[in-house]
Amino acid sequence: MNSKLALLAAGIVVALTLVIGRQGAVSPQTTNAPSQIVAAGPVAAPVAMTGMVFPQATNVAMPVEPDPAVGGGASMATDSPLPNFVPRKLKVFEGHWQGMDGRLMTEELARKLNYPRGVQGVLLGEVTLNAAFSGLLGGDIIVRIDDTPVTDMENFQAATRNVANRSEARISVLRKDNRPGAAVLRKLTVVLREAEGGLGFAQLEGAPMILPGDPRPHGYRGACTDCHPVGQGFELAPDPDLISLPPPVITRDVVARGVSSHEVRGPCEACHVIK
Ligand code: HEC
Ligand code: HEC
Repeated sequence: MNSKLALLAAGIVVALTLVIGRQGAVSPQTTNAPSQIVAAGPVAAPVAMTGMVFPQATNVAMPVEPDPAVGGGASMATDSPLPNFVPRKLKVFEGHWQGMDGRLMTEELARKLNYPRGVQGVLLGEVTLNAAFSGLLGGDIIVRIDDTPVTDMENFQAATRNVANRSEARISVLRKDNRPGAAVLRKLTVVLREAEGGLGFAQLEGAPMILPGDPRPHGYRGACTDCHPVGQGFELAPDPDLISLPPPVITRDVVARGVSSHEVRGPCEACHVIK
């Protein structure tokens, strides 16, 4: 009885903290899309699941430096920022092996990318190096490595461990026909080779870190902290994969002389503040 009350109290405190944290951290979203916050924010989930969630929150709470760029506006000064919340057990989504960039195939992905429902395996998003030499393509779904079936990220990694010391392995995939209409998958097997030093095994990754007030860009998948660490500093911004730096302020003089450090992208004022 007492412990239930305590849990409830803890839930309310954490929910309040989240609300406060969110107000501090995401002023651009708060101003732009107030309705989204109500509909999609993470606050509802922890409150509804008080009893289940908080006893397990044996997370690492790392102190973070307050970021002067965030919440620096006059309206919301959070004097004590939330510590980073890094759950011990996170679901894994991504795996990297021999130039493959694979993701857990889910019903949601199958629907969004027009694969037949119920298909399981590791969906290749990007293929480079040995994986590309083997004939694998982006969009292939790995379903078997040598004799080990692959249905999720955990057994994908286990299957790669089985062949880690070998120089080649058979990879069976389902490949989608590119014809319009209902997707047709064909099974094919390629041989992955690594001449020097064995194939090694896959490294797994979880979902990206999010900020306490981030609205979810995807459908509801469960408690945010099942999959996401919540906090700052886990991700380099701008993302080096798609480096696009924010356009700096340029001077009228620069514009008049047409000096640009980049190729023609259009009228300067479309992207630059000109002073
Ligand atoms: C079952 C796992 C899972 C759950 C639960 C989940 N997410 Fe996600 N989320 C992901 C994955 C995986 C991605 C990477 C992109 C994708 O798959 O859509 C992602 C992407 C995001 C992103 C984009 C992050 C970036 O840097 O690209 C945000 C923001 C986000 N989720 C917020 C939330 C919020 C808020 C909740 C709780 C309401 C939540 N997610 C629940 C798995 C999950
Ligand atoms: C479509 C958007 C876009 C347009 C249009 C554009 N720029 Fe840029 N510019 C950028 C971005 C983004 C950067 C940051 C670096 C990069 O991505 O190359 C940049 C960087 C620069 C820089 C380097 C400044 C610095 O301090 O590093 C100069 C100079 C510049 N732009 C001049 C111009 C001029 C002059 C024009 C018009 C003729 C122009 N740009 C049009 C997006 C644009």
